[in-house]
Amino acid sequence: MDMKILVVGGGGREHALTEALSRSSNVTICSVMSRKNPGIAALSEEICLCRETDVPAVVAFAKECGVIYAVIGPEAPLEAGLSDALEAEGISCIGPTRKAARIETDKEFCRNLMKDFGIAGCPAFAAFHDVDAACAYIEASGREYAIKPIGLTGGKGVKIMGEHVGLEGAKEYIREIGGEVVLEERLIGEEFTLMTFVDGEHVVPMPLVQDHKRAFEGDEGPNTGGMGSYSMPDHTLPFVTGDDYRQAVGIMEGILGAMRAKGLVYKGFLYGQFMVTADGPMVIEFNARFGDPEAMNLLALLSSDFGRIVTKIAQGTLGPDDVSFLHKASVCKYLVPEGYPEHPQKGMEITVGDHGDAVLYYANVVEERGVLFTQTSRTLAFVGLGDTLEEAEQIAERAAASVSGAVRHRSDIGTRAVLERRMEHMREIR
Ligand code: AMP
Ligand code: GLY
Repeated sequence: MDMKILVVGGGGREHALTEALSRSSNVTICSVMSRKNPGIAALSEEICLCRETDVPAVVAFAKECGVIYAVIGPEAPLEAGLSDALEAEGISCIGPTRKAARIETDKEFCRNLMKDFGIAGCPAFAAFHDVDAACAYIEASGREYAIKPIGLTGGKGVKIMGEHVGLEGAKEYIREIGGEVVLEERLIGEEFTLMTFVDGEHVVPMPLVQDHKRAFEGDEGPNTGGMGSYSMPDHTLPFVTGDDYRQAVGIMEGILGAMRAKGLVYKGFLYGQFMVTADGPMVIEFNARFGDPEAMNLLALLSSDFGRIVTKIAQGTLGPDDVSFLHKASVCKYLVPEGYPEHPQKGMEITVGDHGDAVLYYANVVEERGVLFTQTSRTLAFVGLGDTLEEAEQIAERAAASVSGAVRHRSDIGTRAVLERRMEHMREIR
């Protein structure tokens, strides 16, 4: 008999989660999302359109469908306690409890956990709950900081002094976010993403990925949710050494150990955002979920049965042998509305042309009578897989270029030129 799995969330990441589940044997999918994602809907037996943070509504739907597992995509429902509520009804969640999700939703908690347990890769930091104290601190120190709101901000992200703001801009931003802030030493290096499956006791790493946060080619423009990402056939990145990688995995294991020591239950996906610096890998942040776009790279490459991974996470018996990925390069490119992220053009008709071998993942897009319309966030993504990065990039690029309408994408993601620049930067730093 099929096992029923609930997928929570309606973005590109959740389309990739749903697609990977639909390739598994004996899985039926029910899904909850606030707006109908055409890709997820097509793969689901039943869907419920409601806010993903409306815990009673999601629990009621899950019970009605008779799901045995729930896979939670975004962080907001984790913070709302959806995992706790589903578990209380006997539905095993792939997604941590509200308290364990604080690793993402409370930056002060995260940094204190690293400090208290002596986990490597923690930059110098100070947390504040008061505008004047935070402003006085940066003024007195004369140094540059990464300014991070403590909680989830729904768009208002990190501001880096010397990059996005000067001293006055920094103080203004601290006032704007109300003084609930972590100030961190500004790190210099190259970023990479290490995502892991966590079954409560074991950490199983996935291939490394690199995301591109900036809106425009050449890493120019404002930060976005992520414009695209790539991974390499050998599952590592050329500017990350074997030592860097082992340290990063050790840090992920350290975090799980620290949470266990505090009695926090963590089952799901644990995402580490790292910066390789002259002193090795440092932690930018953790997320209590898959990355978006990184999920699309890796779930397209996943060659083991995702339904089985879900079962093993729920049982606490996941091992490295349960998880395998194709040894191919992957390139993911997001199409976003013209004007994104600051002034996205909403409600614009777009047409997808011949996208060849690229995998299409729908994100923030509405379909009406077979016609697609942009919304305010990232629209849809293409993933190309290939034996080389060049091949994967070409597949994704041709597909992205086939889309007409008021959308754009970064043509440089996954190109050799960008990779060379990252490698050159790391050579300078080391
Ligand atoms: P966001 O997605 O808004 O949380 O922005 C996170 C981005 O801010 C990261 O991808 C980094 O590029 C940058 N960042 C965060 N923390 C630091 C830090 N301590 N030093 C330098 N850059 C940072
Ligand atoms: N790609 C970064 C994130 O999902 O937060």
